[in-house]
Amino acid sequence: MKPKSKILIIAGSDSSGGAGIQADIKTVTSLGSYAMTAITAITSQNTMGVKSVSPVPANEIKKQINYTVKDIKPDAIKIGMLNSSKVVRTVINSLREIKVKKIVLDPVMIAKGGARLINDQAIKILKNHLINKVTLVTPNIPEAEVLSGVKIKNSNDMIVAASKIIRLGAKNVLIKGGHLNSKQVEDIFLNKNDLKIFRSKRYKTKNTHGTGCTLSSAIITFFSCGKSIKKACELGIKYVNLSILTNPKYGKGHGPINHINSIILKKIFR
Ligand SMILES: Nc1ncnc2c1ncn2[C@@H]1O[C@H](COP(=O)(O)OP(=O)(O)OP(=O)(O)O)[C@@H](O)[C@H]1O
Ligand SMILES: [Mg+2]
Repeated sequence: MKPKSKILIIAGSDSSGGAGIQADIKTVTSLGSYAMTAITAITSQNTMGVKSVSPVPANEIKKQINYTVKDIKPDAIKIGMLNSSKVVRTVINSLREIKVKKIVLDPVMIAKGGARLINDQAIKILKNHLINKVTLVTPNIPEAEVLSGVKIKNSNDMIVAASKIIRLGAKNVLIKGGHLNSKQVEDIFLNKNDLKIFRSKRYKTKNTHGTGCTLSSAIITFFSCGKSIKKACELGIKYVNLSILTNPKYGKGHGPINHINSIILKKIFR
């Protein structure tokens, strides 16, 4: 099989392989497309925690994006962790130059443990100047609270927050419900004309490292291959759900999910 589309991923590296750019590459590849990358930061981490974060200079990020794209034009872009206002501005400028229309932004701000990953100034620029340039933004509950100013305790609050994010200029928003304690996990999709609540089985497992990165990469892959953004969200959620269910139980902390659940190996490679 040949790759179905080409995706550029702008995100941070996770040495443990479960989240960040590693999860993004595995997802895009496992769903049949070609992955290219611009690394925004290098993290040293394992399933138990983050040891260090080393940001890549904004100019190097710009070069990775522009030089890669000059040669192989992506059909779509996924944006993950952007950790300073300079980096957010640099990415906005590159997007203007490279003119790719299909973009998903995972506004990574807060780590699983609750620590802020980006400063207030970067959040302000992301909110006022980046969100309105992408097709879809995919905040988790704490990120949706920061973007909307709404305290979220249930799915009704998620809908209120989503409508505020649409008013910020987002074309489509998917608020991820992983952080709530509801029996089923609910992800809320909203745009100007449509509201959809995706309900899935919630698994009792600590192995959910990288679910957010994986979801946004799955969505951009389906979207790049011609699905509507809403259908791409539905399929992406299914892929993550199955990846959690079949997780390989690696590591002593929050282990990775099973990105390769979508792959069937040819007989000669088994
Ligand atoms: N325990 C679970 N069972 C089933 N689905 C889950 C579970 N936890 C998260 N999900 C799903 O995983 C996807 C990502 O949601 P989540 O809220 O975990 O994002 P996130 O906080 O950005 O993740 P990350 O920690 O990777 O940044 C959503 O579709 C959500 O419904
Ligand atoms: Mg996340």
